[in-house]
Amino acid sequence: MMDVLSIHNPFGAPVYYKETVTSTMDEARLLSKETSGTVIVADEQSAGRGRSGRSWKMNRGENLSFTIMLHYPRIEEFPPALTLRTGLAVALAIEDFAAGILKTPFGGSVLVKWPNDVMLLDKDGRGRKAVGILTEADNTNVYIGIGVNVAQNHFPQELAEKACSIGQILIQEKLSEQLLTKRLTLLEKILFRLFSELHNTVAFSDWRKRLEEKLYMKGQKVCFIPGPPEELTTQPVPAIEGTLLGVGEYGEISIADDAGEIHSFASGELNVYARA
Ligand code: BTN
Repeated sequence: MMDVLSIHNPFGAPVYYKETVTSTMDEARLLSKETSGTVIVADEQSAGRGRSGRSWKMNRGENLSFTIMLHYPRIEEFPPALTLRTGLAVALAIEDFAAGILKTPFGGSVLVKWPNDVMLLDKDGRGRKAVGILTEADNTNVYIGIGVNVAQNHFPQELAEKACSIGQILIQEKLSEQLLTKRLTLLEKILFRLFSELHNTVAFSDWRKRLEEKLYMKGQKVCFIPGPPEELTTQPVPAIEGTLLGVGEYGEISIADDAGEIHSFASGELNVYARA
């Protein structure tokens, strides 16, 4: 059974809700003929997917899992750096959401980790992942799946150092009441920010500058493992250590090694945790 949620979607398309699904990515593909901007939200995913073939698990009812389907009839029409810019939109929406609940201008740090995560910095400046984004495509559609840790307070031991939720870091106990309404408010804010990111011509022209202002570890020493994802490579590729400079016009990451040589990569993984 699929319900239609009565929340505002600036893309002018329905927002569907299902309690349990395998993955909202699968459900979105079944909706591929619907209006561009159609959203499917679920409370529980039995086979949630992450990047590079990993699984994605979330506690039922505490978080936000959804996929938005966008129709681009030709591949040339795909917006550049779509996943990164979705991350930017989600980061801005989390700031709007936190400010709305705290009723004060929000001064915390919500940053985009290249290429597909949103990180929250705690008061000691330590970053942990609160959002994962997975982008898939077929001939005519892009499916952007977004998982946001909203109110989860406990993570499995292997994730405790790496993962966090908005409730834990930004808002604390103020999230517990009316959690469903609050999660849908956050969804509305994400859709609003994503729509502006993709349809506002000014936003289109300066996304790199705005993204770099929110780029996790920018200007700092990082360890980068060049892609493509492991399952596509036959040879292990050596990691690069250097300074994260920023992103290029297609969203590729730029890193200066210790000799000052600049390297750009379209895929790979920033391995910030390995340095601890
Ligand atoms: C990652 O960090 O590896 C990406 C995680 C993406 C998770 C979201 S939750 C909604 C959508 N449905 C899925 O199965 N995955 C994405």
